[in-house]
Amino acid sequence: MKNIIIAIDGFSSTGKSTIAKLIAKKYGYIYVDSGAMYRAVTLFAKENDLVGKDFLKTKELISNLKNISLFFKSNIDLGFSEIYLNNKNVENQIRSLEISQLVSKVSAISEVRKKLVTEQQIMGQEKGLVMDGRDIGTVVFPNAELKLFMTASADKRAKRRYRELIDKGDTVRFEEILFNVQERDRIDSTRDDSPLMKANNAIEFDNSDMGINEQFKKICVLVENAIHEK
Ligand code: DC
Repeated sequence: MKNIIIAIDGFSSTGKSTIAKLIAKKYGYIYVDSGAMYRAVTLFAKENDLVGKDFLKTKELISNLKNISLFFKSNIDLGFSEIYLNNKNVENQIRSLEISQLVSKVSAISEVRKKLVTEQQIMGQEKGLVMDGRDIGTVVFPNAELKLFMTASADKRAKRRYRELIDKGDTVRFEEILFNVQERDRIDSTRDDSPLMKANNAIEFDNSDMGINEQFKKICVLVENAIHEK
């Protein structure tokens, strides 16, 4: 059985990471949440006053990129890896609405992308990896053996994200979550460098009305086919 790379791209809150984690677990693959890396750089920028609601200090952020070290460390209890920014676990902090509101701006900077794409490609050298994001099948691993592109209606996605944040105890309004989902779709799909788009050979999954079990079953068939393809 050969090891492959599975690239999962798509709009925000389409359940990419849920499915990616399940696939990684079933096949004993490494799971990498590339969005967490963009979020961690955004957290660094926010903590250093390099980005805010109305400003982005692009040049300063670029010259500070060398001071950002990211790594993933497996958390056995949770069953997946958590992201560390300069040796500090920031897994929770990066999921706040505030970071979601700033991350698309930061991830449009080419130098940020260059740094993270290089790190992501190194993680894939041995294959046996599932990575989710926006440009995984198009830029990071254009030769990935299996590429999936996840979509769902903005309303469904906002409802899912709203539930997640409320369950975590955050105080948020549904309208601001919906606005954030739509705004990130817009910025992520229209930026100049590596905009979110479906790779030519990616398989599209609209999961607006599809449960996780049904998706998982269908995707496992695709994975098996890709693993056994000569
Ligand atoms: O997957 P996510 O919602 O946690 O990603 C957060 C943001 O990071 C997303 O709005 C755009 C950016 N991103 C990116 O530009 N490229 C990736 N490969 C992953 C995420």
